[in-house]
Amino acid sequence: MFFDLSDEVAYQQWRLRVQRYQRPGLTDVLVEIDDPFQLTEYEKAAIITRCEHYNMVIYQLNDARIQDKALVHALGGQVLTGELDANLRADEDSVSSLEVRSQNGNQYIPYTNKALSWHTDGYYNHLDKQIFGIILHCVRPAEEGGVNCLLNPEAVYVALRDENPAYIEALMHPEAMIIPDNVEHGRVIRPAQSGPVFMLKPDGRLHMRFSARKRNIEWRNTPDTLAAVDMIKRLLADESNVLKVALRAGQGILCNNVLHNRSGFADSEARQRLMYRARFYKAVAG
Ligand SMILES: [Fe+2]
Repeated sequence: MFFDLSDEVAYQQWRLRVQRYQRPGLTDVLVEIDDPFQLTEYEKAAIITRCEHYNMVIYQLNDARIQDKALVHALGGQVLTGELDANLRADEDSVSSLEVRSQNGNQYIPYTNKALSWHTDGYYNHLDKQIFGIILHCVRPAEEGGVNCLLNPEAVYVALRDENPAYIEALMHPEAMIIPDNVEHGRVIRPAQSGPVFMLKPDGRLHMRFSARKRNIEWRNTPDTLAAVDMIKRLLADESNVLKVALRAGQGILCNNVLHNRSGFADSEARQRLMYRARFYKAVAG
């Protein structure tokens, strides 16, 4: 088992596979789709294979006029699989329309034109409600900016473990990362949540919980934890490690909740950025 720090043989085998698929270019992860409501066997296989290798796909609808919001769930339903916890009644959240809008109370950055720092989705969720799959579909890009960068957490794990296995041990600790209470108008709307950075999914693959935000995150105060978090931030800051994508209308990211960020953007009268986003408790798995 690669995750076991004492099992060097299994780790080295897994590491070779991860390294073979490191630093993909856009063409490595691009899959063209004719009908998102009915994938062909070929399209489905292409998505699954890329997710096996890279944990991500950039899809492109051959007909960019297809912009029905329902396509997001339809797509997810065809390729996302996995066991669900008995207490999860729905297998996914609803589809959010990410666009600039005026908000009362706490300002949620996804609904502004500000940059979003590196994170995986739902890191603040309860541990048995982790997000394993995401679809981000571009209806309209912004006039300028709004670029996403992506990085497979498996590559981050390998870099950290090769540097110092104690970093992995620190990040697997159940209190490695603490997200304090989310308070709005003096009322706790989400209680504090602590958990590891690296954990295993039911399918045996790696799952990462992470946020680069300085506020709203408390790291366990040990030298290894803090050094490991620093190293993650350095890896993310190095553009040669990451895949940069400026989604066009009709393109989308379908991924196993890889690390991602978003640059700030500017809308114009004619072009206002609109993305559909859905999060799933399931992953794309072979
Ligand atoms: Fe996100």
